[in-house]
Amino acid sequence: MTEEATYSGPNRIFSGIQPTGNLHLGNYLGALKKFTDLQNEGWEGIYCVVDLHAITMPVEPAALQDQTRQIAAAMMAAGLDPDTSTIFVQSSVRAHTELTWIFNCVARMGWLEKMTQFKDKSGKDSERASVGLFDYPVLQAADILAYKATHVPVGEDQKQHLELSRNIAARFNQQFDAPGFFPLPEGLIEGPGARIMSLKDGTKKMSKSDPAENSRINLIDDADTIARKIKKSKTDTHGDMPETVEGLEGRPEVANLVGIYAALSGQSDEQVLAEFGGKGFGTFKPALADLAVDHLSPITQKMRELLDDPAEIDAALRKGAEKANAVAEPIIEEVRRVVGFWQA
Ligand code: TYM
Repeated sequence: MTEEATYSGPNRIFSGIQPTGNLHLGNYLGALKKFTDLQNEGWEGIYCVVDLHAITMPVEPAALQDQTRQIAAAMMAAGLDPDTSTIFVQSSVRAHTELTWIFNCVARMGWLEKMTQFKDKSGKDSERASVGLFDYPVLQAADILAYKATHVPVGEDQKQHLELSRNIAARFNQQFDAPGFFPLPEGLIEGPGARIMSLKDGTKKMSKSDPAENSRINLIDDADTIARKIKKSKTDTHGDMPETVEGLEGRPEVANLVGIYAALSGQSDEQVLAEFGGKGFGTFKPALADLAVDHLSPITQKMRELLDDPAEIDAALRKGAEKANAVAEPIIEEVRRVVGFWQA
């Protein structure tokens, strides 16, 4: 669906992370690090722990509480400042659920049926999946648009969901004859961290749900574990590191390790290969392990400190909910008017 993007409001960033399982290096490089970089470049950012999304799959209530705090701790430890950015929990702002219902009546079944994440997560038995799992991307659109966010930093796996958010925004604007009411949010996806792959299979995404623990680096791993996982990561039998980026073709595991080095060091793949091209993995892997440990240890340390005394996290989340509500509530009021709901 196309529409002239006539939205004229301010630029605003929104992104979310699910409180399910441990955060890993992919979440860090594809999302958390970007959030912090954008904050430090001066963007207004709203960052959400998406607990409503988490319950689309079975989750223990106590685990949900813990994991919600863990994600908030990771956001803060990675450098998001709750005074500068807004950090909050999705279920504490009611605009998300209200807008989801309205968007349920805008989105088409056919659009949702194309979503690959639903197919992957529901598996063969989609009849038994929750309705929430099917509706997941509509809630995601509501997350973004309840704030009229214009830009969404995410990893590459969220591309399809973002496209759906744009379609919902465009269709809402058209259906309710409100051109430019919602922005068509753009992804901020590019960059070396957009798609971090498994350390055991360079063709598979690094993922919270991979049963192989050595396939990912968790943000809570200690230095020895990080170093061990990198040293044991899969490479190939082509020999040394290639000298050029073209030489990475057909070598997904090596390309992934080079990409991780590039993302952590803020360099391009070319620059990494200029340093390590022609050298053996016996040189490259320890250098990568050192870089990862140097980069991640302070974050892990800060996360642990925050989690030891969650009062600071809870205070930040309470304040975040207030700030988020203050942005979303007037937008939801406008939406009610546009849709034609009765107002006293
Ligand atoms: P979630 O919780 O699965 O992942 C959080 C973020 O991490 C990114 N990511 C990766 N990036 C690079 N390489 C990887 N291997 C990798 N794995 C995960 C994801 O792209 C994401 O940016 N549906 C979303 C949460 C969400 C959301 C939103 C995001 C809900 N509402 C609104 C943006 C805007 C999700 O499940 O992310």
